[in-house]
Amino acid sequence: MAKITAFDIQKMKKTGKKISMLTAYDYSLATIFDEAKIDVLLVGDTMGQTIYGADTTLEVTLDMSIRHCQAVTRGAKNYSLVIGDMPFLSYGLTIDETVANAGKLIKQGHAEAVKLEGASETRLKEIRAIVDIGIPVQGHIGLIPQSAYKLGGYKVQGKPESFYTEDELIQQAKSLEEAGCFSIILEAIPHDVAKKITNALKIPTIGIGAGPHCDGQVLVCYDMLGCTTGHKPKFVKTYANLRKTILKAAKDYAKEVEEGEYPTLEYSYGG
Ligand code: KIV
Repeated sequence: MAKITAFDIQKMKKTGKKISMLTAYDYSLATIFDEAKIDVLLVGDTMGQTIYGADTTLEVTLDMSIRHCQAVTRGAKNYSLVIGDMPFLSYGLTIDETVANAGKLIKQGHAEAVKLEGASETRLKEIRAIVDIGIPVQGHIGLIPQSAYKLGGYKVQGKPESFYTEDELIQQAKSLEEAGCFSIILEAIPHDVAKKITNALKIPTIGIGAGPHCDGQVLVCYDMLGCTTGHKPKFVKTYANLRKTILKAAKDYAKEVEEGEYPTLEYSYGG
């Protein structure tokens, strides 16, 4: 089976095949997700928190994103589409810089598409310019973490009291489709609002905390693998408890080393 393309993802809405998407940041997990036939791997700026231990995504740089795209694309050789996330301030300054930076994720990171957040007039111009040069773009609306300070925190959007109203989100989604996005991430949006957006578009929506009516779903890989500590958002389902498994393995290893049980001669070279 050939690798998935952005155009394939766009067509999945018509055929009704739901789209699976996970974040990935390194080679080893990418090989596993690729073998599991996850449709899309996002080298997300959530690497700020998951890989680098930062409080937000804001300190992720384009160079970091490129390096992790290189690792993930080396692992996802057979199936998954790899999307490079455009970090804070790698877009939003001038259109030329935005296109050049999107191009670096493709040329140097070997990503096959890029994602950026928001749907302001400036963003729509940038998206048109990136698509025009031949790079597929995924949009992202709702709770857009790079704008969390503006939104008043990491809050559900599309409620009457939210920064972005339901009507604004529907309009944003339509504008992103018109600007040429091949799909749109809907983050932290009530399921009925996500349904209206999904029904209003020809391109697929991929939800994270946006309910079951989206055309696909995305989760942060460390969340669904059960590695993350602290607050677990309502929408996160854990499919494994790797933290427990890895903790036990590490403790068992330390104990065996301390007690001289490892390595036995079985694990040693002969003379
Ligand atoms: O950066 C990221 O991981 C994301 C997903 C949460 C959609 O944007």
